[in-house]
Amino acid sequence: MSEAPALSTIGVYTSGGDSPGMNAAVRAVVRTAHHLQLKVFGIFRGYSGMIAGEIKPMERRSVSNIVQQGGTIIKTSRSAEYFTAEGRRQAYEHIRAHGIEGLICIGGDGSFRGAVAFHNEFKIPLVGVPGTIDNDLYGTDFTIGYDTAVATALESIDKIRDTAQSHDRMFLVEVMGREAGFIGLASGIAGGAEEILIPETRTDLEAICHRLEQRTHRHKTSLIMVVSEGDEAGGAVEIGEKLRARTGMDFRVCILGHTQRGGSPTAADRLLASRLGYEAVRALAGGRANVMVGEVNGEIVYTPLEETYARKKPLASGLVEMAAILAE
Ligand code: F6P
Repeated sequence: MSEAPALSTIGVYTSGGDSPGMNAAVRAVVRTAHHLQLKVFGIFRGYSGMIAGEIKPMERRSVSNIVQQGGTIIKTSRSAEYFTAEGRRQAYEHIRAHGIEGLICIGGDGSFRGAVAFHNEFKIPLVGVPGTIDNDLYGTDFTIGYDTAVATALESIDKIRDTAQSHDRMFLVEVMGREAGFIGLASGIAGGAEEILIPETRTDLEAICHRLEQRTHRHKTSLIMVVSEGDEAGGAVEIGEKLRARTGMDFRVCILGHTQRGGSPTAADRLLASRLGYEAVRALAGGRANVMVGEVNGEIVYTPLEETYARKKPLASGLVEMAAILAE
């Protein structure tokens, strides 16, 4: 960067549900800031720590040996207090007291909503880095942590497949993703699931029952249905009960839950986190504000923060149809 940075002191925080690769992003932010001779503070525990003033300077070495670690060393939280005007005012007082002139928020849609409110009220430049396993932010092909979460879900699905086959059992495996089916679709396709239930497509339980009965006639005795937690027909337990009531068949349910949020990030997540953390600092130093930095088709793009959650990110085209054909 040839021009002088637009600011001299920045703060970085992780917010909302943690995701594997957040540490790699924090490391990239801290190291890039030092490279550009910016002072960088870590704001601990997301918005809760901003309100409480848990803010500490971060030196280059404070982020040593974390690129491979899941979680976030600067911690995270979901803060209800921050969503009050008084909470944000307290947060701003601490930001100002530390001389912080720009912020980098690593998180998902809820964190970005909070960031927009802060930017609007206090005019502090803010750049978002997409960190969530859900992959549900518009303006980036992938969010940090999604690839690892899919790999973790897949490892479990593969294991469940072994026991399902041995016992001739049918399983419903519930994966995370909130209102989005990215984790469900990817882990379902990669795990060869016979049915994939995601919020983006209508779940027709009658049609599923019909296919189950057809499979039974073909002597297919074990199968896996991947259910995204946000599916409109319910979670895996509820859907299992509905299917049992309609068919009289027996189902086992496995909810993968928070295992999907932990673990060492994959190479893809470490690379994405490093690149987006690096570019976020350069964007802030270059005078950008109120945008998320993302990667689309291998290129860095900046999307207004409001658009990242107001616009619906589509599933990759053709995947749903393909999944149905491959499961026949
Ligand atoms: O947004 C990430 C996520 O893991 C979602 O997939 C899930 O619905 C939610 O967070 C769980 O949140 P919590 O950890 O607060 O229960």
